[in-house]
Amino acid sequence: MCGIVGYIGKKRAVDVILKGLSYLEYRGYDSAGIALISDNTAHIYKAPGKLSNLKEILSLEKEENINANIGIGHTRWATHGLPTEINAHPHHCNCGSLTIVHNGIIENYKDLKPDLEKKGCKFLSQTDTEVAAHLIAHEFADTKDLLKAVQNAVKKLKGAYAFCVTHKSMPDRIIAARKNAPLIIGVGEGENFIASDIPAIIEYTKKAIYLSDNQVAEIKTDSIKIYDENDNLIANKVENLPFEPIALSKMGYKHFMLKEIHEQPDVVRNILIDKIKSEDLAVVLDDVKLSKEELTKINRIQIIACGTSLHAGLVGKYIFEELTGIPVDVEASSEYIYRNTIADKNTLVIGISQSGETADTITAIKQAKEKNSHILIITNRKDSAMARLADSLLPINAGIEVSVAATKSYMAQLLSLYLLAIYTAENIGAKENNLVKEIKKELLTLPSKLETILNDTKNIENIAKKYSSFKNFIFIARGINYPTALEGALKLKEISYINATGYPAGELKHGPIAMLDETMPVLAVLNKGIVYDKVLSNCEEAKARQAKLIGVTNFIDEKHKNLFDDTVIIPEIPDIVSPALNIVVLQLLAYHISEYLGKDVDQPRNLAKSVTVE
Ligand code: F6R
Repeated sequence: MCGIVGYIGKKRAVDVILKGLSYLEYRGYDSAGIALISDNTAHIYKAPGKLSNLKEILSLEKEENINANIGIGHTRWATHGLPTEINAHPHHCNCGSLTIVHNGIIENYKDLKPDLEKKGCKFLSQTDTEVAAHLIAHEFADTKDLLKAVQNAVKKLKGAYAFCVTHKSMPDRIIAARKNAPLIIGVGEGENFIASDIPAIIEYTKKAIYLSDNQVAEIKTDSIKIYDENDNLIANKVENLPFEPIALSKMGYKHFMLKEIHEQPDVVRNILIDKIKSEDLAVVLDDVKLSKEELTKINRIQIIACGTSLHAGLVGKYIFEELTGIPVDVEASSEYIYRNTIADKNTLVIGISQSGETADTITAIKQAKEKNSHILIITNRKDSAMARLADSLLPINAGIEVSVAATKSYMAQLLSLYLLAIYTAENIGAKENNLVKEIKKELLTLPSKLETILNDTKNIENIAKKYSSFKNFIFIARGINYPTALEGALKLKEISYINATGYPAGELKHGPIAMLDETMPVLAVLNKGIVYDKVLSNCEEAKARQAKLIGVTNFIDEKHKNLFDDTVIIPEIPDIVSPALNIVVLQLLAYHISEYLGKDVDQPRNLAKSVTVE
């Protein structure tokens, strides 16, 4: 969601900020803006649409106005008010002295506004952020101190925020604050940086301070002071940033999404290293901080997540229940919250999130924590807010994922769930059986099977081209691949804007079949296994309604050869591990359809990589 970049130092702030914002584009945005302080004046530039529009405006500006060494910039993902120039950040007080960029939602902005209006504030935008600008400006009028003004103001704000504030009369400092939205301070030499996420600053520094909730920071060229919620100065905790700038390159691929799809064999190898040494040895998972005795007492598992991570959780349910016999509920975080969920100290709550910053999942995890359940977090960002809430933290180490559509992180989440389920089964003695061994063996061969698919994608590309003009799609599967159908449909709709829905194949006849005719292709995922014949029958039913049929399968016999209009044959794999292989075909199909249609594959409209508002 919104991206923030701030800079104070000796460089041209506009260059650092624009570059930083471009590295945050993947978070999703619909307008951009920047405020620069030079000659005791705040110069503000804003534009709806892409960053290139803002750059265009800046290119026409007089050099003396933009030649500043301090500034704050923003990419906005609209929550309150249309993505227009007026609603774009930075916002400012009436005299234009104080500027602010903000990520999050100030929930009580409507309560604060009337009082500020009575005091003479004129509101120009429909945003919640402008209230914060006026509120801080009023505090500044009283205190003449920007830090104090922000400290006083945040005590009146409700909701989520990460923001940066400047004042033209104090061009030697930026004040930053955070509550339930990410913000880091990059530590430089004779310069400092502020950003919503690491990519914006990694080119300049590998050291950073992660601001915690309710902290306020005063950032100058050569000092950073952090204050807690009681305005006490606290010690700085400087940490090393976890990745290299190279991770942000497309490495010759046309899009990050394609690069990330192709990284999956290595992601799997990386995650298995030291954890499964051979099928005969027990899984090693030092990250699980539950003793054998505590694990044995777990009588219920709840998995909470959103979007693609939720689909990984649904696969997790099948694996866990099969291997451990422990009942598993999987729920969208946004549904888990604001009701009395049943959990206790014998419930294992698993939160899954690529970003570790998804607001709904954070709220759900906090709710579960209050029930004394053990919180296990599976995330790609061990530096995230969610990671900090974990009793056990399982980092998936997939490397930064830039494409908004999640691919390699889904793969890594699946792998983590396999490992966790096997580890649990082995520790509680639930299954001393061949299935656990077989899964371990298959996981070890998964990278080469993934490579078999990735090394020859021509057939998938042809199918993508053939079906790209359809406006609707149905994805069907059963059992452990039902979540694969959901995830395949999500991938297609989010990057191509084609209406795609995943159904359990057996549900077709309970309603969706009414939609079938020659304009509605049906993609079926069917693996040789317990539900194979059942899915085939469901395909026959679809065919009888003239639907075009695409089969993604590891087995097709002579008699069904002509059932499908198109097929993608994947390597042999047991049903229980097949979601990790099948999904790659669906990712590639969605990618090539989107690419063929000329859509913005890596940054689909309206979407954000990190959904930091509820
Ligand atoms: C889809 C996608 C989203 C995310 C969802 C949760 O490709 O990326 O559906 O999966 O917004 O995000 P995380 O996993 O960061 O909590």
